[in-house]
Amino acid sequence: MSSTQTDDLDTLETLESRARQRPEEFGHNALIACDNLVRIYQSEGIEVQALQGLDLLIEAGEEVAIIGASGSGKSTLLSVLSGLDVPTAGRVRVGPWDLMAMTARQRVEYRRTMVGFVWQQTARNLMPYLEAAENIELPLAMAGVGRRARKARASELLAMLGVGYCAERRPSQMSGGEQQRVAIGVALAASPQVLFADEPTGQLDTATSVEVLESLRSVNRELGVTVVVVTHDPSVSEHVQRTVSIRDGRTSSEVLRRTHTDEHGDESVVAEEYAVLDRAGRVQLPREYREVLELSDRVRLALEQSHVAIWPDRSPSPAPRQAPVPTQAEESS
Ligand SMILES: Nc1ncnc2c1ncn2[C@@H]1O[C@H](COP(=O)(O)OP(=O)(O)OP(=O)(O)O)[C@@H](O)[C@H]1O
Ligand SMILES: [Mg+2]
Repeated sequence: MSSTQTDDLDTLETLESRARQRPEEFGHNALIACDNLVRIYQSEGIEVQALQGLDLLIEAGEEVAIIGASGSGKSTLLSVLSGLDVPTAGRVRVGPWDLMAMTARQRVEYRRTMVGFVWQQTARNLMPYLEAAENIELPLAMAGVGRRARKARASELLAMLGVGYCAERRPSQMSGGEQQRVAIGVALAASPQVLFADEPTGQLDTATSVEVLESLRSVNRELGVTVVVVTHDPSVSEHVQRTVSIRDGRTSSEVLRRTHTDEHGDESVVAEEYAVLDRAGRVQLPREYREVLELSDRVRLALEQSHVAIWPDRSPSPAPRQAPVPTQAEESS
């Protein structure tokens, strides 16, 4: 009898400790984790699925560009990440903040301390009647920072962003590029960990855009702030190490840029494009591939030695050189 009791206790203990060791959450090491995000807008009886199960992980210290066609869901994603909008389903976490479970007060706190943002419309970023330095001081004054510390931070930020000479100018006395660089300063005033920018160069010409993107880069490199910049300009990817493409409300492909050193010690930047494999094992095939091979509805898959092959449904059976897909029995043996 007593031995049975001990067995029972052991079993309970084992069960409990197993229950406590929950499987690690998706992207638990990442600073930003979007897991199967869905955002559905309802307007006048019409349903628009702006995000359709988007997965995205961003590490602390990364600089990431998000590109995609108009309507692909870029701004929706940024609104969610910056705490302005709440997704319909899925999970989203930024640092310790669970964005699905925040109270209104926590949301204000999150937006004040954890993240900063820069919008496309230059006028939306700055107070028109305040000088550049005063614009940066404003959020600090609201957070109770003393006058001397506010002034010091504003002038340091303006100098770092290359617009120290604009300190005493109002927005109407600055160019679009200068205004956007000051706007980056405002977004960074409260030392956030993440900076989000939605089309910050959308209203600028190419040369000025480059200056703003370089400022974002120095914010990332010198201050260690994680930067997520949304754009529909593919050339932005030349300025960042990682570019994520969004198509139809999902991440579809990524371009990673790495510095490669050859045998002579010469450095060159190599850009490689990857398709994104989601947690359920789904990959989106580029439209061009689907059109050329008329892939639709059903395709044949085969596991080869080092890759997976995909054939159109109507093609004859896949060539015999493919490696057989292991059955469960083979896998376990
Ligand atoms: N408030 C809203 N109400 C209804 N539909 C919306 C709303 N906001 C966005 N949408 C729709 O959601 C989809 C994604 O919009 P979103 O603004 O995220 O796209 P985007 O990638 O930022 O496009 P763009 O490059 O034009 O800025 C679009 O079909 C858009 O019409
Ligand atoms: Mg947009």
